[in-house]
Amino acid sequence: MDFQFTEEQLAVQAAARDFAQSELWAGVIERDEHQKFPAEQIKKMGELGFMGMMVSPEYGGGGMDTVSYVLAMEEISKVDASCSVIMSVNNSLVCWGLEKYGTEEQKQKYLPRLTSGEIIGAFCLSEPEAGSDATMQRTTAEDMGDHYLLNGTKNWITNGSTASVYLVIAQTNPELKHRGINALIVEKDTPGFVVGLKENKLGIRGSDTHSLMFTDVKVPKENRIGEDGFGFKFAMHVLAGGRIGIAAQALGIASGAFELALKYSKERKAFGVEISKHQAIQFKLADMATNIDAARLLCLQAAQDKDNHVDYAKSGAMAKLFASKVAMETTVEAVQVHGGYGFVKEFHVERFMRDAKITQIYEGTSEIQKIVISRELLK
Ligand code: CAA
Ligand code: FAD
Repeated sequence: MDFQFTEEQLAVQAAARDFAQSELWAGVIERDEHQKFPAEQIKKMGELGFMGMMVSPEYGGGGMDTVSYVLAMEEISKVDASCSVIMSVNNSLVCWGLEKYGTEEQKQKYLPRLTSGEIIGAFCLSEPEAGSDATMQRTTAEDMGDHYLLNGTKNWITNGSTASVYLVIAQTNPELKHRGINALIVEKDTPGFVVGLKENKLGIRGSDTHSLMFTDVKVPKENRIGEDGFGFKFAMHVLAGGRIGIAAQALGIASGAFELALKYSKERKAFGVEISKHQAIQFKLADMATNIDAARLLCLQAAQDKDNHVDYAKSGAMAKLFASKVAMETTVEAVQVHGGYGFVKEFHVERFMRDAKITQIYEGTSEIQKIVISRELLK
């Protein structure tokens, strides 16, 4: 492992940090409280190149590596995890999936607008009765010759109402089970496609999460990604990389909360001294910092595996499993270090604690990551 960052990687990290610190703190509490989508912020992130970081410049992307992406995701998540989940879905699920497996026409048609932030994308796998058990797709994509007829419901879709392009996973040939599943590109204004109600969530409240309904939606055959029946493999390949992004999001939530706790511990006095002078607080800080460094190493390992074209399903799952646990534990302790002030919104750590939880659930729950890791170990 060599984690000497290049000048380019350090520049990306610094740019993401500057942007997050100067543009995301303002309004973050209000966006969280009122579930306000960060439209202006996402537009600026597109202009700065954060919405299509790994896409080739040929399609308007930044042509950057996964390590740079992890560094940027951490910095954005240190301030606003709602912005980072929108960024993560667009980068690692939608753009990466399209660039890796899309046709030249599909790439030309969608990537330049997705990478610039002009439009955003959504990835639609989960259903009311198919979350972890993702092969049990009930949404159908009936083969009608020159098009597919899409029928069904997707659940919990990030960017559900704000996206313009949706990658929808659906079953075409149930007899073939997961090998009969297809991935289709669906545009928002297609007749028969309806966006359902917005979920009222515990955390990442600035991001919009919706159910989606499809009733006899005609999707042209040229909108299929990959060969007939490749849809489930497509989803699994895409999610293997996506999990590195969510691991970095969890890392950022943890390090954001830690930085606030460290600062506060040096300001707040109790029993005549700063609370950082009490060993109980010092030990909390030591545990947080150690866990965060370990999580960062796992994230960078997985990113480096992806950049080096080494199989990253296991390292990505390990990074997500560990970093999300660290995010949960660190944010709970950051609230504790703040005492009563930690329980009110102005001090931010309660938001980090609420945001941390989702990292143990989406893009595969922690239990699913353990299944992925143990299957790789026992192969
Ligand atoms: N890469 C490529 N292919 C893979 C793969 C991978 N990492 N993992 C599995 N596959 C393939 C298998 O090879 C198999 O295909 P073949 O039979 O043709 O070889 C096929 O997928 C089915 O695999 P399994 O038999 O292992 O399937 P399973 O039913 O036991 O489930 C699972 C596997 C890993 C549990 C999978 O269902 C899973 O990942 N579930 C979690 C779903 C998930 O992560 N959802 C996230 C939704 S997106 C999201 O959440 C975004 C967001 O919040 C922001
Ligand atoms: P279930 O699968 O019903 O799991 C319930 C519990 O059972 C979990 O603890 C789980 O770990 C456990 N469990 C299930 N099976 C096993 C097993 N075999 N062994 C051990 N334990 C098991 N999905 C998308 O497709 N696109 C998105 O953009 C998206 N964004 C999301 C945003 C938010 C805010 C949320 C909440 C969800 C989002 N999801 C998205 C869905 C998310 O990926 C699923 O919620 C997740 O995969 C879990 O599925 P489920 O909710 O159906 O839980």
